[in-house]
Amino acid sequence: MLNFKWQHLILSLACILLIIACNSSSPNIQPDKPVIKVATDPTFIPFEFQTPQGEVVGFDIDLMKAIAQAANFTVNFESLPFDGMISTLQAQKVDAAISGITITPERLKTIAFSRPYFKAGLAITVREDNKDIKNFQSLQGRQIGVQIGSTGADFAKTIPNAKIITFNSGPDFFQDLINGNVEAVISDAFATLYAINNGKIKGIKIVADLLTEEYYGIATPQKSPYLDKINQGIATILSNGKYKQIYQQWFQYEPPQLPR
Ligand code: ARG
Repeated sequence: MLNFKWQHLILSLACILLIIACNSSSPNIQPDKPVIKVATDPTFIPFEFQTPQGEVVGFDIDLMKAIAQAANFTVNFESLPFDGMISTLQAQKVDAAISGITITPERLKTIAFSRPYFKAGLAITVREDNKDIKNFQSLQGRQIGVQIGSTGADFAKTIPNAKIITFNSGPDFFQDLINGNVEAVISDAFATLYAINNGKIKGIKIVADLLTEEYYGIATPQKSPYLDKINQGIATILSNGKYKQIYQQWFQYEPPQLPR
């Protein structure tokens, strides 16, 4: 029979061992650091795209990671086609989406957006040898390629007599433009310009004047518990220089002023 002293000591030791075991089996779990599931459509160079090794990288990806670090949460990226993104958010199957998504009054009816994080706009892209398509007027009656569900697709609907050809994934329309299956593409200017300047696509050019001014925001379901955190993170990286650093890493010039 052990005396009382020994029983006491063994019990204490067991407790200490239990505490050590519990701590070491879950070293990464921090109750105050939520994991946020973020959807992205990695076909939109340089905002989100895949390396040949299959890694998802880009301006939006770097930005989202910096926002998470600034606002103390962890991001879990999930690839999703752009067309389904809004309804997936609506159904609350993901916590947020970053995908060069333009903030529009229409979308704000069903989902929420963070404050703007990127100034963008739509442009017309044509084959390098095209001399007739120069502006909105000259698009009338033409065959125009757009990505399904994009602001470019909405804009194309306003062109009188245009034959709109829709594509599931962004870069496909450029192939059809080069092949002569469409006469023009309406899509986000910065993404196209980046692809042209970096030799990712050849034989096409952008028409100088932008058709629209747009702002990208991080989208969430309405009344998301994470929206405040995301906005806080954006505010922090805008003021501490991190936003500028990421912007210049991808675009090589000064970021423009963003509205609140
Ligand atoms: N900015 C456009 C929109 O919101 C197109 C975005 C396309 N993004 C993408 N990852 N494919 O409709």
